[in-house]
Amino acid sequence: MTEEKLTELLKSMTRKEKIGQMIQLDGGCFKQNPSEENVTGPLERLGLSKETVQLCGSVLNVMGAEQVVKIQKEYMQKSRLKIPLLFMADIIYGYKTVFPIPLGMGATWNPELVCDAYRMIAAESAADGDMVTFSPPADLIRDARWGRCLEMASEDPFLLSKFSAAMVKGLQNDGKPGKSVASCVKHFAGYSAVQAGREYNTVDMSERNLRQNFFPAYKAAVDAGCELVMTSFNTIDGVPATGNQWLLKKVLREEWGFQGVVITDYAAINELMTHGVAENEYEAAHLAINATVDIDMRTACYGNQLESLIQNGEISDEQIDQACMRILQLKNKLGLFENPYYGCMIKKETLTQSAFQEAALARIVANRSCVLLKNNNVLPIKNHPKIALIGPYADSKDITGLWAVFADREKTVTLRQAMEEHFGKENISCDKGCDFLYDYESLGDFGNIKVSELSAMTEVERKQQEQKALENAQRADIIVMALGEHILQSGEAGSRTDITLPRPQKELLKKIHALGKKTVVVLFNGRPLALKDIEPYCDAILEAWFPGTEGGHSICDILSGDYNPSGRLAVSFPYDVGQEPLFYSQFSTGRPASKNVDRFTSRYIDCPNEAMYPFGFGLSYHSCAYSAPVISQKNMMPDEELTVQVDIQNISDCEGTETVQMYLRDKVGSVVRPILELKDFRQISLKPGEKQTVIFKISEEMLRFYRQDMTWGSEAGTFEVLTGPNSHELQKSEFQLCKK
Ligand code: GLC
Repeated sequence: MTEEKLTELLKSMTRKEKIGQMIQLDGGCFKQNPSEENVTGPLERLGLSKETVQLCGSVLNVMGAEQVVKIQKEYMQKSRLKIPLLFMADIIYGYKTVFPIPLGMGATWNPELVCDAYRMIAAESAADGDMVTFSPPADLIRDARWGRCLEMASEDPFLLSKFSAAMVKGLQNDGKPGKSVASCVKHFAGYSAVQAGREYNTVDMSERNLRQNFFPAYKAAVDAGCELVMTSFNTIDGVPATGNQWLLKKVLREEWGFQGVVITDYAAINELMTHGVAENEYEAAHLAINATVDIDMRTACYGNQLESLIQNGEISDEQIDQACMRILQLKNKLGLFENPYYGCMIKKETLTQSAFQEAALARIVANRSCVLLKNNNVLPIKNHPKIALIGPYADSKDITGLWAVFADREKTVTLRQAMEEHFGKENISCDKGCDFLYDYESLGDFGNIKVSELSAMTEVERKQQEQKALENAQRADIIVMALGEHILQSGEAGSRTDITLPRPQKELLKKIHALGKKTVVVLFNGRPLALKDIEPYCDAILEAWFPGTEGGHSICDILSGDYNPSGRLAVSFPYDVGQEPLFYSQFSTGRPASKNVDRFTSRYIDCPNEAMYPFGFGLSYHSCAYSAPVISQKNMMPDEELTVQVDIQNISDCEGTETVQMYLRDKVGSVVRPILELKDFRQISLKPGEKQTVIFKISEEMLRFYRQDMTWGSEAGTFEVLTGPNSHELQKSEFQLCKK
């Protein structure tokens, strides 16, 4: 439909119809058989009239082509102006075929590969009814206690920005009809900085920190063309994001030029009352519409209060028109006026064919997301020894992570299946050995997430399981333990104060280790873990995150040596939770800790400052030698570019992928500057003995920051260039940025 036609359509709409477009409800109100006339059944609590429900413009988390077609058909029959319903869903890192969680995808350091993954996710979900997905999550990781680290690709603004842009590009897939979905970057803004890592807690930080570190990844998504932005639950400088004019009007719309749809997070307008900035629904709706929120997700505020706000002269019809027009434009961009069933018409056989491609790509992404943290020459497992596979994740399908709500669990390949396929069933013994946890009560539940286990074994069963596992381990040549967080211990509302491996699993690991056999630990988790207390009991540690549908295959590929692990951490692993929030890009402080134990410096008396496994770290089966960086010139004028040259040689006998990292340090600024900032990286593949030269470019733009007067720009002075395989093993050189 042309813009003119859209404008005519808008003019022909009643005020109620316009307000209806601004309401999003959950699928419950559409799933009942309309003939029962209980369409508002699940929503009576919401206080919305049946008429308002019928006018609502979008629905969340209704998937399945047949169901979407059925609901859309009935909806359109009742729609006076034939404005299609918009279907949105939480397809965060996979639909039926699930890829590794974003925290794992960040460890690939390969945005192009992740873009391809999201193209597949878009095609698979569009064909089954999705039109908008609430992805990419782009909240900068700051605290491992926060459960939603799971959904975020990194603690580094530069790297996270690369991934959020890649996810938008993949999802929106050049707007290919039926193979693309509109993306929705979230949660705007700063949600991951919740105090104490406690979910939904207060966020309070300087504007400088917000702009310098948290905004870039959201802005990268906006600049990549994402169609929607979702407001976060938290406050920004005392005002909840959902009612924050500075954040949504000034920054997002005026500074960044975002013209798309702003949607709230789940029932967030209601929460303006709970936060205490609105007395009632009327005031809550007033705050949100004045902040230019277009869609009210799952509350009655807009539906019941906007009309009164207009009649009382507190807001204008123009504000409603603007919001409604943005929603109509989104529907028009998706071609819904011409084809309200969107991708549902893709033939089923096409879906089946693509399923194999998706699985293949999911395996590659999972291969590259796993990070080898320790290896005392026990990996790869060669030949076909007797392997005892032990642990609650040994044969579990819960390896898709918390937000894989639509996962096809039948397709999920467990580690046991993959290892029996590869090493031969006769060489594998498999035992659960212990429960995930001793206490399942605190987990609560997560709506429709399928979980294979929510209760502990009896004491008798536990002893039997443990005994059987120990006996099998005794008979094996090598032991592989599949351990980790219960699926409900991370993800939304999954904050933990103890980020170590759950106790039953630690206790079993120690008993297994006492057998004196080679022990490999594979970890499944949705956050950085504190591994200090289990590391001594492991001869190798492979971080697998929640690797998704092909997780079993991808881990087995690494254990067997079929894939040489190339993953590098995109987040810091602490020795202890007491170090959180922990991230590599810290400031010097006035008394930086030194190698010698000087009491009066910035340090803990009971724990190192640094990460146990640092940002950028990961082992491989190959090893490389790095030269020091060679800079093209010592002095750089603002309009010049420097090059930085690094030679890397594979000094081992196996081919592998290396992620060469370049960091900068601005030695002196008008405000303190981090001791290290990732500015570029390059992934290269090296054959045994092969030597390659990587050349990075440094421009003046890369040196800019929010200066003391909050202007964005660089300052002349000395800069260090640091290059190497991770943020701890770096060699450096220096250059001067000269004044104009
Ligand atoms: C949830 C999450 C958000 C999700 C939304 C819709 O509370 O915060 O990430 O997209 O609600 O399910």
